[in-house]
Amino acid sequence: MDLPWGDERTKQFVTNVGLITSNGSYGQNIMACEWTHLISYSPGLIAIAVGKNKTTNSNIRETKEFGISLASTDQSVIASISGGSTGKEVDKIGVLKELGFKFYKAKKIKALMVKDAVLNLECSLIKTLNIGSHTLFIGKAIEASANPNKKPLVYHNLQYWELNKSIEKPPQKKRDKISRLVERYRK
Ligand SMILES: Cc1cc2nc3c(=O)[nH]c(=O)nc-3n(C[C@H](O)[C@H](O)[C@H](O)COP(=O)(O)O)c2cc1C
Repeated sequence: MDLPWGDERTKQFVTNVGLITSNGSYGQNIMACEWTHLISYSPGLIAIAVGKNKTTNSNIRETKEFGISLASTDQSVIASISGGSTGKEVDKIGVLKELGFKFYKAKKIKALMVKDAVLNLECSLIKTLNIGSHTLFIGKAIEASANPNKKPLVYHNLQYWELNKSIEKPPQKKRDKISRLVERYRK
């Protein structure tokens, strides 16, 4: 079966927004990618799912590298612009610079990175999987820096959100009861 874009079931996921930067025949480019996931600690591996016809897809296949800047709550406009047109037709980085957003040169790859993101990762491509509607690119982190003063932009139900309330743990008595129950069910 399909789980199409915008479908009530597809919209239940909650994700970060990865700002994927690349630099190939189409020049410096940026796209928004909600399907950006850490999939291994050691080594640090990240999977991104990128539509087959995207400029980012061609750039990554060509250069075997890409940048990921995880958007912060001040960067929803970057996400919208990066996700709203294709690098084949629009110099999105030029638009964003003109709007006052800052980029810096990556240390280990040829792409630009977004300043003031919550996390910046420079990745070297280790695997390309042609699956379904998208291509899964798996990148190995070769440079990483976090910005603890920023909060991650959240994407859910086709809208941007910010986290502001963590769920409290149940009271100690209830947690003790749960621990005893887990012990009883230990195999
Ligand atoms: C918030 C947001 C999240 C998105 N997530 C994805 C994604 O995970 N994968 C994908 O292929 N496209 C995603 N898109 C769409 C691309 O960003 C969009 O098609 C973009 O124009 C591609 O740019 P490019 O052709 O320059 O690479 C998303 C768009 C937005 C606004």
